[in-house]
Amino acid sequence: GRIWTEIGLVNENLKDKTVLIRGRIQTTRAVGTKTGFVVLREKGYTIQCVLNVTANLVSQQMLKFATSLSKESHVDIEGIVSVPDAPITGATQQVEIQVRKIYGISKAIPALPINIEDAARSEADIEEALKAGKQLVRVNQDTRLNNRVLDLRTPANQAIFRIQSEVENLFRQYLLSQNFVGIHTPKLIAGSSEGGASVFKLDYKGHPACLAQSPQLHKQMSICGDFGRVYEVGPVFRAEDSSSHRHLCEFIGLDVEMEIKEHYSEVMDIVDGLFIAMFDNLNENCKKELEAIKKQYPFEPLKYLRKTPRLAFEEVVQMLKEAGVENVDPLGDLTTELERKLGKLVLEKYDTDFYMVQRFPAAARPFYTMPCPFNPAYSCSFDVFLRGEEIISGAQRIHVPDLLSTRAKDCGIDLKSIEAYIDSFRYGTAPHGGFGVGLERVVMLFCGLNNIRKTSLFPRDPQRITP
Ligand code: 4AD
Repeated sequence: GRIWTEIGLVNENLKDKTVLIRGRIQTTRAVGTKTGFVVLREKGYTIQCVLNVTANLVSQQMLKFATSLSKESHVDIEGIVSVPDAPITGATQQVEIQVRKIYGISKAIPALPINIEDAARSEADIEEALKAGKQLVRVNQDTRLNNRVLDLRTPANQAIFRIQSEVENLFRQYLLSQNFVGIHTPKLIAGSSEGGASVFKLDYKGHPACLAQSPQLHKQMSICGDFGRVYEVGPVFRAEDSSSHRHLCEFIGLDVEMEIKEHYSEVMDIVDGLFIAMFDNLNENCKKELEAIKKQYPFEPLKYLRKTPRLAFEEVVQMLKEAGVENVDPLGDLTTELERKLGKLVLEKYDTDFYMVQRFPAAARPFYTMPCPFNPAYSCSFDVFLRGEEIISGAQRIHVPDLLSTRAKDCGIDLKSIEAYIDSFRYGTAPHGGFGVGLERVVMLFCGLNNIRKTSLFPRDPQRITP
């Protein structure tokens, strides 16, 4: 009988079996008048299909039809799996299909804005091809994003979004195993949740409203609602105005909030357990995907330790100063440039790309952050870094309502818009804390990629709201 399968699954075990596969035409080639080759692609995997008129497997018309199909057209192919003597170049699968039938499913227009083979080349590959005098077009980022459905077909992009899916899955799995409850908080809210200018304002049936900059307020209110430990995976909106390599206007937030029994380091313990389990799992279960990404965008495997270093902010300032950095503000925040510099220093000293910095200056943190009990210029907060860039920020929160409203007022927040939030802490609330992770940033930095747009399916940035 006929077996439907996927191109990525066709291997020697199916030798001599008749299979049915569906894929897109990557290339076609006629050799003489009796033979032709079609390379078919599905989900980043490719297979060579042979049309052989001499052996009477296909007709002359079939050969003509197949070799004239436009690139990216969708076809079904029925054929017999064979194992050639020599290794196959130009396809991922090391077996061939001896074609018996081809069914056209959907034609692609001939003038494609992106050639997928070119879009899949590494920088080194492009250089080499150009030197060899090959005709090819370097596909720039805007062209890719303008034609994202085509761009997504490259093996590296297929792999990136499979890894993203796995990161989300591992996040949920780990937290569920630690007694967290998955929640969904509203994205339409009355006021800004993080303060600052990066908020999208809108009209909510005649009332001013915002798109949530984070689930911050409502994840804390869920702790007031007695869930003890909660997590959320959902969209987060930021009206960023810089077109940086790591800021989007919409991203996926992985958020956690939990009661603290004794010390906010309990929150950092969760980060530690969660991310080590995540990295271990990705390295073990996504080998093929990591290879596919590396082929186009070479990167070093991530270095991380069994126990993640936790540096104090003051210690970090010292490290930077000793390394000759002069523009460090001991009561300010770390700039992108300082973060990178620190990343190098930590890698040298601790041999890890993954580390935490705690006790940030209070002035550098949002209004809801708990000040340090012994020195209010600092706060019970932390950031987590991957390859020298922030992927997480977290903290203990102020659960004392009067202190909270004072801090909010000092930070210029409209108290009216967060009245219900502040009141939530008047009905008895345990100390609590949590953190927020940017999904796209985790994938970008785990895979050593240089731009967050590569890890967002249809990125939204200050210049882009389509496709
Ligand atoms: O540092 P942020 O703004 O912290 C919060 O939203 C807090 N409510 C978190 C908490 O629970 N204390 O954002 C958290 C993370 C950042 O570390 C970063 O990974 C990501 O979200 N992030 C962005 N990712 C893409 N584009 C942007 N514009 C981002 N802004 C923050």
